[in-house]
Amino acid sequence: MGEVEGARTFGVAGETYDSFMGRYSLPLAELFADAVGVAPGDTAVDVGCGPGALTAVLVDRLGAPCVYACDPSPPFCDECAARYPGVVVKRGQAEAIPFETNTADHAMAQLVLHFVSEPDTAAQEMARVVRPGGKVAACVWDFDDGMEMLRAFWDAALSIDPEAPDEARTLRFGRPGEIAEVFATARLELIRESTLAVASSYSSFDELWNSFLAGVGPAGSYCTSLDDPDRDRLRVALLERLGAPSGSFTLGAVAHCAVGRVPG
Ligand SMILES: C[S@@+](CC[C@H](N)C(=O)[O-])C[C@H]1O[C@@H](n2cnc3c(N)ncnc32)[C@H](O)[C@@H]1O
Repeated sequence: MGEVEGARTFGVAGETYDSFMGRYSLPLAELFADAVGVAPGDTAVDVGCGPGALTAVLVDRLGAPCVYACDPSPPFCDECAARYPGVVVKRGQAEAIPFETNTADHAMAQLVLHFVSEPDTAAQEMARVVRPGGKVAACVWDFDDGMEMLRAFWDAALSIDPEAPDEARTLRFGRPGEIAEVFATARLELIRESTLAVASSYSSFDELWNSFLAGVGPAGSYCTSLDDPDRDRLRVALLERLGAPSGSFTLGAVAHCAVGRVPG
């Protein structure tokens, strides 16, 4: 399998991801599993597992032998497998999920669909690995203003560079109805939408700023692509956007979620 475009900025260590995004995706995973109704006795596939934020919640609720996971990023697959022994972790992408037809009761993609090149194919693949009557689910941040960390970053970036690749402009699925539309095309039934809200606290502005310097995701990648003077200007602009906090602060994050049922 060659390099997958959407995974290009995710070739980092699990800990590095956690300090940037895992701090939000772990609490999000609890709410996402609740939205799907994941319950003991179920089996589930975590599509685009990363280092395993959702995998952790699935293992906790279902037990490792009932959990399957895949991701195109080699370091994330290694990390997920190391963190959760007993989970079947395979390298693979959502457009060609490396599991058999009818593998599980649920297929779940947390913060993944916006990185997938062929989302319609991904939704069909998620439906394929789920038994008839099972559930397919996805959630993606609200990039317009629900995900404060990324919104503040991109607003700061746009203030110094009007061409900055704001994820609200470059990525799909950050608005209500967009995931449901793709699910309907994949012939899923009884599609329900909801919003999931979490938060993360930082001990200082530097803790937040350093998380961008690791180059994770589109924001980190943009940050590290700048030359030193522009990166300094971005740092000052971001500090101002956040009201120049002198100590700890908390940022909220809202995701749009859709859950559909596989016919049968
Ligand atoms: C923001 S991370 C989310 C990781 C994890 N699900 C979480 O909630 O923390 C996005 C993930 O999508 C993966 N990804 C990118 N393109 C993908 C694709 N085409 N199919 C499946 N996963 C993909 C990346 O490698 C990365 O692990």
